[in-house]
Amino acid sequence: MVVVAKNLIKKYKDTMAVNGIEFKVQEKECFGFIGPNGAGKTTTMKMIYCFVPRTSGDLQVLGRDPSIHPELVKANLGVVPQDNNLDEDLNVFTNLTMYANYFDIPKAIARTRAKELLAFVQLTEKEKVKINELSSGMKRRLMIARGLINDPKLLILDEPTVGLDPQARHLIWDRLHELKKQNVSMIITTHYMDEATELCDRIAVMDKGKIMVVGKPKDLIRDHIGEEVVEVMLMDMPAGKLKQDTSGFNVTLEETSQKCYFYCRDCRSLLSHLADKGYKHILRRPATLEDVFLKLTGRDLVD
Ligand SMILES: Nc1ncnc2c1ncn2[C@@H]1O[C@H](COP(=O)(O)OP(=O)(O)OP(=O)(O)O)[C@@H](O)[C@H]1O
Ligand SMILES: [Mg+2]
Repeated sequence: MVVVAKNLIKKYKDTMAVNGIEFKVQEKECFGFIGPNGAGKTTTMKMIYCFVPRTSGDLQVLGRDPSIHPELVKANLGVVPQDNNLDEDLNVFTNLTMYANYFDIPKAIARTRAKELLAFVQLTEKEKVKINELSSGMKRRLMIARGLINDPKLLILDEPTVGLDPQARHLIWDRLHELKKQNVSMIITTHYMDEATELCDRIAVMDKGKIMVVGKPKDLIRDHIGEEVVEVMLMDMPAGKLKQDTSGFNVTLEETSQKCYFYCRDCRSLLSHLADKGYKHILRRPATLEDVFLKLTGRDLVD
């Protein structure tokens, strides 16, 4: 196991940011945390990468307790925090070599590694450029390169592709898949459900400091939603009428002010029934992790 957490709690003054969570991350696994803003994802990551101490509970990272052996843990961790914290006074290349100093990596090795990593994130052309001359996507790619400077066993990525264009996002996914092949374990948070589905072997859905469910993306979708979703636009029609018209079907239904969502294993018969009843604004599609997320954590914005 690369991480084992038991009854892990983090309290900031009056805020229970992480409220007794339990999870395990296996070697070579990509483990994801998803959940609404303020769910406690970043706080969990920060406890793992020795940035904030836990309030109570057990935590083992790479076989050690981060509050007792932070140096030993950090030596084998790569960290890409949620906010970029590159050194604005240094150029791209020097950001990497200076960072290598923290790990006592000999200068020549650091330079070679920095060159390789810049090529890896396709920033070689920018090596002499100052940080404030990079686009936000380039800064994110540089953060990922920096997280890899010490050849970590475990890479922690807090929203790695936030603000990236589709090309850059796919480049990062490609690179993370490559790292997986090289047996790097990963823990990732993201608000992009397609990203979580693409990258994660297992996912924990967090809300209000708790883990609600853990599982493989496919299993979570199958267990909580089903195979398919039918969306019906209400177009000013009361949801009650639609419910009445479909009462004979054993399907789960969720409504918002604009739409009703039906979750089913095979939606064919429901679809033809709706067509017979004259419903026109209908979409049938495969169920996704986004459906799971919204079902478990609610469709409303709650602060
Ligand atoms: N340094 C801090 N001091 C006090 N409260 C904090 C601190 N950091 C986070 N919190 C609180 O802890 C809770 C969890 O925050 P956290 O950053 O872990 O959420 P998150 O799941 O990463 O959210 P997001 O998706 O917005 O990044 C929130 O209520 C937040 O306000
Ligand atoms: Mg966060």
